[in-house]
Amino acid sequence: MGEIYYRPLFLIHEPPVNSMKALCINQYDSIYNAALLACEPAVPGPDEVLLRVVAASINPLDLKLISGRMSAIFPLKFPYILGTDVAGVVEAVGNSVQRFKPGDNLFGRMDPRRGGALADHAVVPAHHLSPIPEGLDAGLAAALPTAAGTAWQALHDIARVRTGHRVLIHAASGGVGTFAIQIAKLAGATVIATASEKNHALLKNLGADEVIDYRQEDFTRCVKDADIVLDLIGGDTLRRSWGIIRPGGILVTSIDRALTNNGAVRGAFVQLTTNAALLQNIALLVCAGKLRVITDTSYSLEQARNALEQVASGHVAGKVLVRVSPQPAGH
Ligand SMILES: NC(=O)c1ccc[n+]([C@@H]2O[C@H](COP(=O)([O-])OP(=O)(O)OC[C@H]3O[C@@H](n4cnc5c(N)ncnc54)[C@H](OP(=O)(O)O)[C@@H]3O)[C@@H](O)[C@H]2O)c1
Repeated sequence: MGEIYYRPLFLIHEPPVNSMKALCINQYDSIYNAALLACEPAVPGPDEVLLRVVAASINPLDLKLISGRMSAIFPLKFPYILGTDVAGVVEAVGNSVQRFKPGDNLFGRMDPRRGGALADHAVVPAHHLSPIPEGLDAGLAAALPTAAGTAWQALHDIARVRTGHRVLIHAASGGVGTFAIQIAKLAGATVIATASEKNHALLKNLGADEVIDYRQEDFTRCVKDADIVLDLIGGDTLRRSWGIIRPGGILVTSIDRALTNNGAVRGAFVQLTTNAALLQNIALLVCAGKLRVITDTSYSLEQARNALEQVASGHVAGKVLVRVSPQPAGH
């Protein structure tokens, strides 16, 4: 409520020398009409940071935002620059920003209403950003905010996962799921994961104790008395999940906002909230080798629409990245 939209960027016909490139939409639309355009350069406000974008990652939310399906929750202002997950190098900071300085390597999640990651420069509120730990690739950092943040908040903040829990994760081979497997295992849980057969080796490699091919097997026949189900699919998958959860257990969904308790089983919707401190801790787990970032394909900014199309297939394994500019040497 009361959120300010920062300096909307205006499309320009004759790009000046210092214009920035950004993947934009001009109305709720199809991804095929997202276009790489020249925009007025972004200038940071007092609490903001100007990043040279090194990498961004794509999320299914980007597709939902483009289509207008999320307009009640995330109304967009046009022209809208796509992308919420960003990593880059600070070029300038606003007057009130004390924590960061030019040259710092940062990553974070941008407000979906504002977007802006799929561009060569991005202006981000400083409190949404965290330092990229030394040695961590900026592309891997850009993969974290939405996917790993959601997996963490679903399993820890909502489901309170702990040692001995049996956790079923639907769509475990996707962006959120590949982090969710590992986060549940780090908490000491037993993990059952669903994906198509081609991804089973990946899921086991990430620590899944059992894997189910959702195309061939009925998970309701394979799993009983789960403590936690993490639903990343919705619809029939969500509905059929109630029956495999023990009384007192919980079904957490990333899809159905209206989910409530069902008898003795709790139901909850996870809505990712941007939390820079959490993202910093997650990045440190990656650096410590405790959490792996699975990447599917990397695209250039010029190919960013292809990256959106790949995520739209619904069958990526891990994260799809857009690498925008080189990472500074020595980081
Ligand atoms: N509420 C929130 O705050 C929030 C936050 C993050 C994400 N989300 C939502 O959560 C969903 C998942 O996000 P994501 O980033 O993980 O998506 P994603 O990376 O696009 O997920 C792709 C994966 O889904 C799997 N899959 C597709 N259909 C399946 C099925 N019927 N059963 C099991 N697996 C299936 C695919 O596996 P195969 O290739 O093996 O088929 C693929 O690996 C999206 O709808 C996203 O918008 C919501």
